[in-house]
Amino acid sequence: MADIRNHIEKRRTFAIISHPDAGKTTLTEKFLLYGGAIQSAGAVKGKSSDRHATSDWMEIEKKRGISVTSSVLQFEYEGYHINILDTPGHQDFSEDTYRTLMAADSAVMVIDGAKGIEPQTRKLFKVCAMRHIPIFTFINKMDRETRDPFDLIDELEKEFGIGTYPMNWPIGCGVDFKGVYERDRHSILAYDEFHAGRKRLKGIECDINDVEQMDSLIGSYAREALVEQIELLDGACFDFDIEKVRCGKLSPVFFGSALNNFGVEAFLERFLQMTSAPLSHMSVHPAVDEGTPTEISPFEDNFSAFVFKIQANMNKAHRDRIAFMRICSGQFERGEEYFHVQAGRPVKLSQPQQMMAQEREIIETAYAGDIIGVFDPGIFSIGDTIAAKGAKIQYAGIPTFAPEHFAVVEQIDSMKRKQFAKGMTQIAQEGAIQIFFEPNTGMERVIVGVVGVLQFDVLQFRMESEYGVKYYKHDTPHQLIRYIDNDPEELNPASLRLMQNTKWVQDVKGRNLLIFVGDYEIDWALDKNPGLKLSEFHQNI
Ligand code: G4P
Repeated sequence: MADIRNHIEKRRTFAIISHPDAGKTTLTEKFLLYGGAIQSAGAVKGKSSDRHATSDWMEIEKKRGISVTSSVLQFEYEGYHINILDTPGHQDFSEDTYRTLMAADSAVMVIDGAKGIEPQTRKLFKVCAMRHIPIFTFINKMDRETRDPFDLIDELEKEFGIGTYPMNWPIGCGVDFKGVYERDRHSILAYDEFHAGRKRLKGIECDINDVEQMDSLIGSYAREALVEQIELLDGACFDFDIEKVRCGKLSPVFFGSALNNFGVEAFLERFLQMTSAPLSHMSVHPAVDEGTPTEISPFEDNFSAFVFKIQANMNKAHRDRIAFMRICSGQFERGEEYFHVQAGRPVKLSQPQQMMAQEREIIETAYAGDIIGVFDPGIFSIGDTIAAKGAKIQYAGIPTFAPEHFAVVEQIDSMKRKQFAKGMTQIAQEGAIQIFFEPNTGMERVIVGVVGVLQFDVLQFRMESEYGVKYYKHDTPHQLIRYIDNDPEELNPASLRLMQNTKWVQDVKGRNLLIFVGDYEIDWALDKNPGLKLSEFHQNI
């Protein structure tokens, strides 16, 4: 048992979040270099055709040269076993991106120093904040002209409502970038653009008030600015408090340059020290105190895991699907019979695999904190729990995130009504899209909601290739969705006064919702319909 505990304690499972182009891939690649998992920079992806060489599972990915689903990379570094969850960006942003964060114990937020917080960082941050996981900030591209570092941390604090604690502080930026001052170690990491590669940087111990030493290190101009800024920082900034870091209230901030491999190792080291081993998860098994939430520790003897992503058709010839699961407790062993809680049946997880840097390989064992992908013959759904036989564990489920793009989808060929309904329902069950209906219409006309527009392409591709169905699609201008909380008996949605472009829809369970073009329409509806109660779309959090 002690052996399993050792394995679990070494696990660090985190997601990297950023807006496209902030430097997430470059930073990941440098991490992998330190872990020795790849030999050269440029191996994770290039911008060109070799990009995502090993995760080109779907044809659509190849066609577009982008990754539709999140991938998981793992490597060893300084005794830690690291799992990095990639969160896809650009147009391939989807619910998967959000769900991936459900499987992470902490997040690294990469910010472009010239741009500060950008829309996608904002969205991803919100999901991390909901889970109260620790968030570490890497302010990147300090080798370029950036915004004032005080402005940047101020923006983080104001927009995200968290405290920040700069672990290091930049000495200039762009052509004047001299390096960073490490506040706790009282040392300077000197920037030298020739440091790219695997060479390890050693901090130069210094006394910031030793004029002679500092001048020889960074010059008098930079020294004066640094002394002043550190004074300001010491006086005005939050105190360091590891407990606040661990519950996501205080974000340690690091400045560096991923491309030049500057400050990356120092970041990785500190990050690994500060972040914790796998976190507990809440179980709501009906047989345990009637479903009262109970915390399941990763060190619990019983194996347990939940499915957070299902990737369909990685291999078109076999129509296979892979269910990705996060192990929450105990040890997984290949060949062992487990229990699929939602289906109420025993299950053997076949072809369990992990992404080891570039290669997918079949694994024999895995531990709490790890992510494994297993062959799914079509039995798993997002949020399902797999556990050791007899274990009374059922994880609380994965939230459904509010779609941000909508389209009306109508079947063309009425002879294919069944396939259309089957395809739409199945793909919605997998969680790739969400479907809604206009009241009193049948299954031949569906309103599809997605988080990222690429999901529309995925839907079209899959409906054609897997179900042989073509359809008409009309995009609608809606962007926001809310539940109507009133009892329909007390307030009939049909009688609501709504702006013309606000639509009343129902979900598969018949619950009433409204979709809106913008906030103005929501305010209008609330104003014109006293007593109307609307609630946000998030579920299960
Ligand atoms: P992403 O995964 O977050 O989308 O970003 P990615 O790492 O692909 O980086 C986006 C661009 O920013 C890349 O340039 C990359 O080289 C550059 N970059 C990343 N980190 C730094 C940094 O610390 N300093 C500077 N100056 N640039 C950085 P690109 O020209 O778009 O692509 P490439 O041709 O270099 O691959």
